[in-house]
Amino acid sequence: MKVREDDIEKLLNSLKIVDVVSEVVELKKSGANYKGLCPFHSDTSPSFTVSPQKNIAKCFSCGAGGNPISFYSQYHKIGFTEACVELSKKYNIDIHYDKKNNNQEEKEFEKLYKLMEEARDYFSNNIFDNQGKEAFEYLSNRGLTAQFIKENYIGFSYNSWDKLLNDFTQKGYTLEDLLNVGLIKKGDKGYYDTFRNRIMFPITNASGKTIAFGGRTLEDRKDIAKYLNSSDTVLFNKRKNLYGFKEKGTFIRKKNYSILMEGYMDVLKAHSFGFDTAIASLGTAFTSEQGELLKRYSSNVIIAYDMDDAGQKAVERTGLILKEHGFNIRVIHFEDAKDPDEYLNKFGKDKFLERVKESKEIFDFLLEYYSREYDLSNLIGKQNFVLAFKPFFSVLEKDIEKALYLGKLAGNLDIDKSFLEKELIENNKKEKNKYNSFDENKIVIFEKKSNNFQINSLEEESLKLSLVSKEFLDFFAEKDIESSFVKKIIKILKDESMLKSHNYATSIMENSSLDEDEKELVLIYLTSSMTLEERKKEELNNHLFKDWFRLEIENSMNYAKEVKNPMFHYKLKLMLEKLKNENEFVKNLYIDFKNLVKEEANERVY
Ligand code: UTP
Ligand code: MN
Repeated sequence: MKVREDDIEKLLNSLKIVDVVSEVVELKKSGANYKGLCPFHSDTSPSFTVSPQKNIAKCFSCGAGGNPISFYSQYHKIGFTEACVELSKKYNIDIHYDKKNNNQEEKEFEKLYKLMEEARDYFSNNIFDNQGKEAFEYLSNRGLTAQFIKENYIGFSYNSWDKLLNDFTQKGYTLEDLLNVGLIKKGDKGYYDTFRNRIMFPITNASGKTIAFGGRTLEDRKDIAKYLNSSDTVLFNKRKNLYGFKEKGTFIRKKNYSILMEGYMDVLKAHSFGFDTAIASLGTAFTSEQGELLKRYSSNVIIAYDMDDAGQKAVERTGLILKEHGFNIRVIHFEDAKDPDEYLNKFGKDKFLERVKESKEIFDFLLEYYSREYDLSNLIGKQNFVLAFKPFFSVLEKDIEKALYLGKLAGNLDIDKSFLEKELIENNKKEKNKYNSFDENKIVIFEKKSNNFQINSLEEESLKLSLVSKEFLDFFAEKDIESSFVKKIIKILKDESMLKSHNYATSIMENSSLDEDEKELVLIYLTSSMTLEERKKEELNNHLFKDWFRLEIENSMNYAKEVKNPMFHYKLKLMLEKLKNENEFVKNLYIDFKNLVKEEANERVY
């Protein structure tokens, strides 16, 4: 991060969200706001709402959006700094940034991307020479043509410990470069090639750049991994990327669905048959981050996992994650084949299309899946069957879906609908923000994101206030903070505020220990804090102070119960009652509380 801290503020103050969004989205006025079709998912009714007042935009369907800078960077898929630079030029807002450093960092990344592209081409050439013959024949036998292999840069890594290492250091790359992208490793005896004697599948990011490799062994041995994937590097995070994103995801956008598979070979085979929206996760189970990425391209997904038990179990798990992100989900079933790859080989394109058409809606899949798992002829079995649906119902957001699925389940079970409603909907709410006293001020962008970071709303609001009030920061830093993210930010803020008296918060954007996501989140909080009026700050301060206070009393009460001290418990309870009705002299009450706790501690010691 090389844009100066005060310039980020300046940019955010000068840029108008309506201007920046209307560059790419047609907006219509709607009350105090503007509305348009969301550019991050295929939208049919205008869900993308722009608030000039708050200077932010948000899609109420897929959750995407942000302030002018984060919107711009997400839309154009560029980094935060790059977005700042482009926007400052475009809107003639003069900002300073350390040019040399900035270029250096950019150059560093460019160099690594270039290295990966060269490695991709290198592996790709290898498969067509003599040493790659076995690999080439293996793929031919599995039904991939030479043209397809070439066009998709499927390659081969030589059966050697250091061929790539030598060839690439000769090209001018350093050991550090090669280590950084995971192409070599360091062992006791020195450096060696990561991938040896493997078929190489390039892994690209959403903008089509090669960022990693998956390597499949040619040997049928149990003692080595079938697939070896690049470990996470500066370019690659296996939880956040997807395999097989063709043409930067344009196919998925156009066809408005994707087909989610388990394996690299499944995806490649599907592509070779024209199913160009096939994708897969990267050697791990499907993640929430991947759901978020996919949602930007289409909300419709067809799961085509393997037919074995593990695969079907994974459908249940992935289905839940996808539902949590609001996807429409269908599930494919293959008869007489263990996976999409084998099915396509055996039965071809038209039959596969039939399977797509006959795919089941996720709930129907679950109905069948759970009825195989539970014995519905007895009461206990029936009960467990109903309970199995709890997680699924807890992530549903649309009422229509809840009603629909509930009806289906009731019909299937011959159980009273009102009972199911109670069990699966009323008593099955996901932990919602309990802390909503500041709704009007709360900028709810990236609700999903903060969920990922697991921040409860008391800590979230406290973080926001800490960004603009040093006094509150000092108070908050003393508390028992649950979220590791908040803890980390508060620690950095404390350090910064020791050095600087003002602007301590914005310098956090330069902190190198934060990754892009963390920075984005901080920036969102920062934007929302900066718009807090003094009066609101004061009010928030009092609220939060009280809430933390209440928490402390409650904790002490639990403690009093544990040590079986009814008198202490009683005094605390009185204090809690007082606190509820007290607004003015809360600080005095707090001193009383501290004294009470001290007294109690002394009594126990002596
Ligand atoms: P599969 O074994 O189903 O992969 O594992 P596949 O692509 O169908 O392989 P073929 O058909 O035998 O060539 C599914 C996915 O799990 C990951 C890979 O991403 C693979 O594509 N995997 C599997 C690993 O990361 N490591 C392994 O050792 C095995
Ligand atoms: Mn397979």
